[in-house]
Amino acid sequence: MSHPNEVGGYKLGSLIIEGKTKQVFDLPELPGHCLLLNKDRITAGDGVKAHDLEGKAAISNQTNAKVFEILKGADIRTAFVKMASPTSFLSKKCDMIPIEWVTRRLATGSFLKRNPGVPEGYRFTPVKLETFFKDDANHDPQWSEEQLIAAKLKVNGVVVGQDEVDYMKRVSILVFEVLEKAWALRDCALIDMKIEFGVDAEGNILVADVIDSDSWRLWPSGDKRLMVDKQVYRDLKNVTAADLDTVKRNFTWVKDQLDHLKPTIHHKVVVFMGSAQDKEHCNKIAKAAKDLGLSVDLRVTSAHKATEETLRIMQQYEDTHGALVFIAVAGRSNGLGPVLSGNTSYPVINCPPPSDKLVQDIWSSLSVPSGLGCATVIYPDSAAIMAAQIIGLQDYLIWGRLRAKQIEMAAALRKADKQMINH
Ligand SMILES: Nc1ncnc2c1ncn2[C@@H]1O[C@H](COP(=O)(O)OP(=O)(O)OP(=O)(O)O)[C@@H](O)[C@H]1O
Ligand SMILES: [Mg+2]
Repeated sequence: MSHPNEVGGYKLGSLIIEGKTKQVFDLPELPGHCLLLNKDRITAGDGVKAHDLEGKAAISNQTNAKVFEILKGADIRTAFVKMASPTSFLSKKCDMIPIEWVTRRLATGSFLKRNPGVPEGYRFTPVKLETFFKDDANHDPQWSEEQLIAAKLKVNGVVVGQDEVDYMKRVSILVFEVLEKAWALRDCALIDMKIEFGVDAEGNILVADVIDSDSWRLWPSGDKRLMVDKQVYRDLKNVTAADLDTVKRNFTWVKDQLDHLKPTIHHKVVVFMGSAQDKEHCNKIAKAAKDLGLSVDLRVTSAHKATEETLRIMQQYEDTHGALVFIAVAGRSNGLGPVLSGNTSYPVINCPPPSDKLVQDIWSSLSVPSGLGCATVIYPDSAAIMAAQIIGLQDYLIWGRLRAKQIEMAAALRKADKQMINH
């Protein structure tokens, strides 16, 4: 294929690699980055079946960009940077880990052949994960976890061992679940998908390559007959121009639907403080909540001294937000949280400020009158996390951020443990 000098205003360096559907170029003016240029080409069966399809590059490129924006919104670490032109995007330059990470919610396709007796549509809970070594000549053989670890793949200085495999397994499942929840908003069932990871120059393991209509099975209304993914192309015996048109129409539909997968709920976390003196504690709650993607307001009002005002502010929020959590910060006797809780049907979390009398004062938050159901935590982070868990019930990006944070925390602990052992 040709080697353009420039794409989307970016000067291209050497061709790093050319595959069946993309070219990857160095960017001399953007060290550590590369440009992935899509081709107007569709392939299947390790490239045995292949057709030119005008417009496919742009459709795939936009699909990929929209999917990676969703993953970014869930704080998943990816190589994707931004779209560079209608048919290309900027990515962190990675050495690729030559494994396809396949996740499945329902059994279909090759899984049925490899696992005779399992009926099509068998539901995996949790999501099933399989790994395949990328080797077209040998038709991408499936590798067990033991084979993968035994291979000691070395990529950009990172040796893929148990910790790295566990990390990629968890991220693969998170990517699946985030996109599954996203597609559920349009009543589409994500059946299975594959992703790849790369390692950047700093040794970070990132979701890389692309995620587009080549990457998954997607069944509108959960009905296999309505499939809109590349399987339609794989299943074709003689490929006619009309068939290719159908495939293109499906891919375009998927690209357009992705615009409607944003969480629609307008949420708010309101931190009420009984006194402006509690501002420092409240700022910590607000920061932790914002890091989790939450929209936060800080308000000062005392339930003891300005009861009507407190309830009026509370009602204003109730009128304007679908998903709402109140956090009450009050020192000494906490009247604020219980008064809010007794007058709203939205969740209230008490998070009293630090004090050397906290052990006594905490009882005013814990021992509440009958009919009240507020929760109590003492650390700002805990209040933010709990608020995010509540909002996350209706907002898959917030849910994803919580899960991503857990995965990163677990990985950081393992890293610390490794360093401890090695010293
Ligand atoms: N961020 C990145 N940095 C470097 N290489 C990348 C990056 N993202 C993807 N690649 C690589 O670009 C190559 C070309 O992509 P393409 O999908 O066309 O290859 P392919 O023919 O499908 O082969 P493969 O089976 O390896 O995917 C792939 O080998 C892919 O791993
Ligand atoms: Mg590929």
